[in-house]
Amino acid sequence: MKIAVIGGDGTGPEVVAEGLKVLKAVAGKVGFEYETKDFNVSGDRYLANGGDPEKPSIPIIDEDEIEELKTFDAIYLGAVGHPDVAPGILEKGLLLRLRFALDQYVNLRPVMLYPGVPCPLVGKGPDDIDFVVIRENTEGIYTGMGGIQYKGTPQEVSTQVNCTTRFGAERAIRYAFETCKKRNAKKRLTLVHKTNVLTFVGQTWFNAFEAVAKEYPDIETDYNHVDACCMWFIKNPEFYDVIVTDNIFGDIITDLGAMIQGGMGVAAGGNINPNGVSMFEPIGGSAPKYTGKNVINPIAAIAAMAMLLSETGQNTGDAKLADAGRRVESAIRSVTSKMKSQSAGKMGFTTTEIGDLVADAVAKTE
Ligand code: IPM
Ligand code: MN
Repeated sequence: MKIAVIGGDGTGPEVVAEGLKVLKAVAGKVGFEYETKDFNVSGDRYLANGGDPEKPSIPIIDEDEIEELKTFDAIYLGAVGHPDVAPGILEKGLLLRLRFALDQYVNLRPVMLYPGVPCPLVGKGPDDIDFVVIRENTEGIYTGMGGIQYKGTPQEVSTQVNCTTRFGAERAIRYAFETCKKRNAKKRLTLVHKTNVLTFVGQTWFNAFEAVAKEYPDIETDYNHVDACCMWFIKNPEFYDVIVTDNIFGDIITDLGAMIQGGMGVAAGGNINPNGVSMFEPIGGSAPKYTGKNVINPIAAIAAMAMLLSETGQNTGDAKLADAGRRVESAIRSVTSKMKSQSAGKMGFTTTEIGDLVADAVAKTE
């Protein structure tokens, strides 16, 4: 297996190092070979190459680097975001660029409360918070369609187009039904949107959902408006099994999801192209204020590594990789129950100690 590694900005390289430590441990345990290659793509490189901190002036990632990334089995990403670069430049120039260029049309975000992790919802435990959000990852208001006119004047006008295609909605929805079928849990798929206001794009999502649902008679379907969905996340999270939603709604509800699963320090995601190269990342940011202090929580990055292994294993039919993913996941569960907190600096352990604990736990998995 060939893995491209982009540590990125801030604490990204630190957490990625712990994920790679765990990868080494599990590869030794299960017995598979892998290679990694580091890609130095970051805000620091952009600035060092003379990039304008205020507006995109040079590519954050080069065309030939993107072509090279396409030759890997998976990409492992740390974090994107630099305090000296204006918001949007690195996010669009690297993260969104890769999601679009590699057609990673699904953002797979499990919301799972690990054992021993404090949940801010009173009376809810790991059995109640265990669902998956499938976020459409290449369309919606993320495409950059639109513009700004009369900028800086009182007459300023701007639009940001919610670009939605039946094709895009349908492929995300189909992936969600397949996920729901395999998950073997409640067999319930909930579409989340805002069809009462976004009547045009909402209709496209709803039509696609109803059409694909006919192919999956064993799966119960449901629909929530996104605002109501936020309410249910807090009130009855146990209701959910799999959720499918558009790009921006998926972005927003998975931050809420991260909070009910114990914080940004534990939430991992996969940018999936089922027929191409997928990219796995902790979903929290680059946390500049914690950079280099050995205090950031690497659990999300290690969970992203578990996903990388499970998904790559599933996609290639490689049972060893799938087994490795399962072991890393179970090792994480044994370590979270020993941690004081999932917040940076309050874990009761350093970043590297958590990585060591998970690597040791992997060696002991059955
Ligand atoms: C995420 C992030 C990104 C997004 C940003 C950094 C562009 O918030 O992965 O959820 O909005 O998709
Ligand atoms: Mn987000």
